[in-house]
Amino acid sequence: MKILLRTNRFYLTLLNKTYSTALKSVTTVQVNGKEYRADDYTNITPKITSYINRNLHLKKDNPLSLVRQRIVNYFYASFTHGGNPVFSVYDNLSPIVSTRQNFDDLLIPEDHPSRAKSDCYYINASVLLRAHMTAHQSELLRSGLDNFLMIGDVYRRDEIDSTHFPVFHQVDAVRLQRKEHLFVNHPDLNIFEPNYDPTNPHTFTNSISDPSKQSCHTLEATKLMEGQLKNHLIGMVKVLFGENIKYRWVDAYFPFTHPSWELEIYYENNWMEVLGCGIMRNEILANAGPTNSIAYAFGLGLERLAMALYKIPDIRLMWSTDDGFLSQFQDRDVNASIEYKPVSIYPHCTNDLSFWLPPTLTIDTFMSNDFYDLVRDIGGDVIEQVKLKDKFIHPKSKKHSLCYSIVYRHLERTLTQAEVNKVHEDIAAATVKAFNVAIR
Ligand code: PHE
Repeated sequence: MKILLRTNRFYLTLLNKTYSTALKSVTTVQVNGKEYRADDYTNITPKITSYINRNLHLKKDNPLSLVRQRIVNYFYASFTHGGNPVFSVYDNLSPIVSTRQNFDDLLIPEDHPSRAKSDCYYINASVLLRAHMTAHQSELLRSGLDNFLMIGDVYRRDEIDSTHFPVFHQVDAVRLQRKEHLFVNHPDLNIFEPNYDPTNPHTFTNSISDPSKQSCHTLEATKLMEGQLKNHLIGMVKVLFGENIKYRWVDAYFPFTHPSWELEIYYENNWMEVLGCGIMRNEILANAGPTNSIAYAFGLGLERLAMALYKIPDIRLMWSTDDGFLSQFQDRDVNASIEYKPVSIYPHCTNDLSFWLPPTLTIDTFMSNDFYDLVRDIGGDVIEQVKLKDKFIHPKSKKHSLCYSIVYRHLERTLTQAEVNKVHEDIAAATVKAFNVAIR
């Protein structure tokens, strides 16, 4: 992982500029009406902050909300007890979480790449915008829940294109089973191996070196949970995409589940990954409370499902407040089959930006995610894509140079070249200031 101190200087420049109060703005940062201490981890930007509270997953006419309702309905209908749904739904949890919630509670190692500053939006070294809904697993288990869905917005620094946006939405779930329920007809079978003592979990070293199960669990319990997990998820995908959907399971790795899998569906001539899942690591359960159960968990991305279901070609459309977009999803039965029809296609405009790096940077250490955030901050939603076009080292001067293509497109009208040039110039000026580069 490339973690460079320079990242911070860049953001301090931005914070300074935005809040324009000299020193104070570099020591604190305002997020969602609350003031936080800033430090050398701070990399959250005003642009990103502006997405908090949009809650697209709860907006009645948003396609993400339609998919959310269909998934919740499936879980309500599939699991009932005395006529009442077994799963409870949490779709309004604050996206501001601690590094303990997002990483430590989930056994994500200190040096795991997902913790990198280049991948997350940190408010400071111990607080960040959640990078996955799994961040709430432990607190909800601690509060005594056993079957629950966690739905909300998650934040990850990433490239920009038609399928990637730094904010997206996930549905995560946990289902806990006790011995009496898992083995109703086989009271002789157990969840745990005889050498594991559930009343004393911390004296046992739970190993994951056997690919088929955790060392504390019996193979019977693991296989039964795996069967249920896979059935429930295939059932869900069939409800969404129809009985004939082609799918496959792929072995996967997550620090918080073992064994783990990914589900892929065959969509438009490609295998598309739709979710990650697995048997929850027993240490997470034992730390949060329940010691006599085994659990499965999964997490899926709503954008991908909505784009595939409704043939929505660009992820930025989810954020549109334009009537031409929203009206297509308005007042519709959640199960209706809807195919999005572009109102009209507006042309795009591509401008290149080439620059020489300062002697302190090379084409390999330049942090492109920092640059993407800057482009998004200055350009806003007219940025369709930013791609690296060329890397170059001058044979004589040995100076390093990069060239990025920036694709501009407005979703609702035609941009003029003059308008694009103005934004492009602003991006060039900000790039010079933030990274100390020289425009070629
Ligand atoms: N949190 C994982 C992700 O964001 C998904 C996941 C959730 C995987 C729960 C396993 C169990 O990719």
